[in-house]
Amino acid sequence: MIIAIDGPAASGKGTLSRRLAGRLGYAHLDTGKLYRAVGMAVVRAGGDPTDPETAETAARALDTATLGDPVLTTDEAGIAASKVAAIPGVRAALLDLQRAFASRPPNGCRGAVLDGRDIGTVVCPDADAKFFVTASVETRANRRLLELRANGLDAKEEDVLRDMKERDARDSGRSVAPMAQAADAVVLDTSNMNAEQALDAALAVLAEKTVGSRS
Ligand code: C5P
Repeated sequence: MIIAIDGPAASGKGTLSRRLAGRLGYAHLDTGKLYRAVGMAVVRAGGDPTDPETAETAARALDTATLGDPVLTTDEAGIAASKVAAIPGVRAALLDLQRAFASRPPNGCRGAVLDGRDIGTVVCPDADAKFFVTASVETRANRRLLELRANGLDAKEEDVLRDMKERDARDSGRSVAPMAQAADAVVLDTSNMNAEQALDAALAVLAEKTVGSRS
């Protein structure tokens, strides 16, 4: 069982994916972490994340043991990630790893939940269930602002909103695997939902699918 969850930054897709995987006993892969790790590897080495050769070399050398590094949760990592993610060679280098996780989930799990921007469209087009999680850009910027402030970081609302819009534009506008809603994805708009409500909505969709596939 493969569940594909795509959507823009701070849409709630990460929280939903984690909770869904926990509830169903499936393995979870936050594919944004892969791009973040590649972006930060380039930045830390003093390189330019928009340079294809440097970024592709970093993607091929990616060590998945580093995915827990707290620096990967920062906005600096998110911005570097969206730059390396626009490079076709980087996406190609990370594709096999993501597909292997989906088809052979670790720890004997019977299923996998992958979240990102192109899971339902490119990485796992044959996924058993697909969600596109979204929310208004203002809601998403506000969530990010609260998160940054909760972590003791001083952030201005207009800066966070501007960065969010820039990242959306870069992710949707790139020529290779742009962020897109798969034709067969179920849209979940979390603007007026909390994490529990989003989980319930996703579980209801999955339950309906299971019933539908039995009849
Ligand atoms: O989801 P997250 O904010 O961690 O992703 C960071 C960046 O990585 C995104 O802005 C996007 O550019 C890139 N990404 C991607 N494809 C994915 C996951 C993330 O291009 N499947």
